[in-house]
Amino acid sequence: MIGLLYRKILKPILFLFPADDVHVFFLKMGNFIGRYPFFRHISRFFFFYKNDSLSQNIFNLEFTNPIGLAAGFDYNADLIEVLPDISFGYQAIGTVTFWPYKGNAKPMLGRLPKSKSLLVNKGFKNHGIESILNKVSKTEKRIPLGISIGSTNKLYKNIDEMIEDIISSFKKVTAQNYFDYYELNISCPNLINVESLKDKFDEPIGFGILLNKLSYLNINKPLFVKMYLEKSVRDTILLTEVASIYPFVKGFIFSNLVKNRNNPLFDKNEIANAGKGNFSGKPTEQITNDLISEVYKKYKNRFLIIGCGGVFTGRDAYEKIKRGATLVQLITGMIYEGPSVIGKINKDLAKLLKKDGYKNIKEAVGVYYK
Ligand SMILES: Cc1cc2nc3c(=O)[nH]c(=O)nc-3n(C[C@H](O)[C@H](O)[C@H](O)COP(=O)(O)O)c2cc1C
Repeated sequence: MIGLLYRKILKPILFLFPADDVHVFFLKMGNFIGRYPFFRHISRFFFFYKNDSLSQNIFNLEFTNPIGLAAGFDYNADLIEVLPDISFGYQAIGTVTFWPYKGNAKPMLGRLPKSKSLLVNKGFKNHGIESILNKVSKTEKRIPLGISIGSTNKLYKNIDEMIEDIISSFKKVTAQNYFDYYELNISCPNLINVESLKDKFDEPIGFGILLNKLSYLNINKPLFVKMYLEKSVRDTILLTEVASIYPFVKGFIFSNLVKNRNNPLFDKNEIANAGKGNFSGKPTEQITNDLISEVYKKYKNRFLIIGCGGVFTGRDAYEKIKRGATLVQLITGMIYEGPSVIGKINKDLAKLLKKDGYKNIKEAVGVYYK
């Protein structure tokens, strides 16, 4: 019912406004609701769903369900207090960078409704690590919280300078010790100089230098690497092999945004008119799912996989889980279907598990390859 109201009444109104402004509106509104127990209870009444079959203990963290908010929606930690009430099982803040960044030139966001996709060109618009760590230190956690860290969107002379920026952020988060897990975002396609450096993180040498430098820090929480979508399976496996040397790398998030505008899942008209940026949602889904399968088949339990890309329904999430994802993340599904979709995905997932005779979601992880 609430989902229908969102799709038929609220969404058509919101979609009349520029996507950048609607994003800001949602953040302000979510932050406001989260600050008052009265409004949080109302959200809980409409949006909360819980089922024991969805809960897992992972790296000593209690995930009441596997559906998390992916990096890229809550850059500045505005929604920590409200997300548990709309049924999120965990959340990634960020991507956060060492220096604050105002964002790329507007529009930073666009909509491709027929393709069920969003155009993204933010370049990590965030207040910077110092300010965000200060802010969260006053906030109580109710679900596992991760922070996604990437390099500040500026020009670097070489890869060492870029790595130093990332290391400086990691030094701060590990010293503060607030977050439950870390995401290392190496795969954002919207940064100024990703193409121009000699060594890059999408090649085993550059990625190896980065992980080697990180290994000298005390990374005291599980770290997941946010991976590229459009690397071939072979090139992806080469990167995972580099990561397998480092015990602090506990897993991967598959995947980031689509760059390739010839992806057949785009509506031809929409993609022809799209501005600068890269794309989320349904065009990412199949490629992501294939990467999950390949990496799960190769490593089984050495790496934990978080499946992210084009999840709109419980069935979409279940597919990623059966291919080997232990946890799932989303953004675009929530934008198109509304906040009630999180509870609905969880509810449908619980039904699907029951139908297949599983008592707990853990039993379904990677079941295609058992
Ligand atoms: C508006 C927006 C901003 C994003 N920014 C980030 C980011 O800062 N860091 C990151 O790792 N991924 C970012 N992403 C990618 C998402 O985390 C996710 O990988 C991708 O959107 C696929 O999931 P979805 O189809 O559920 O949206 C962003 C995506 C969107 C839609």
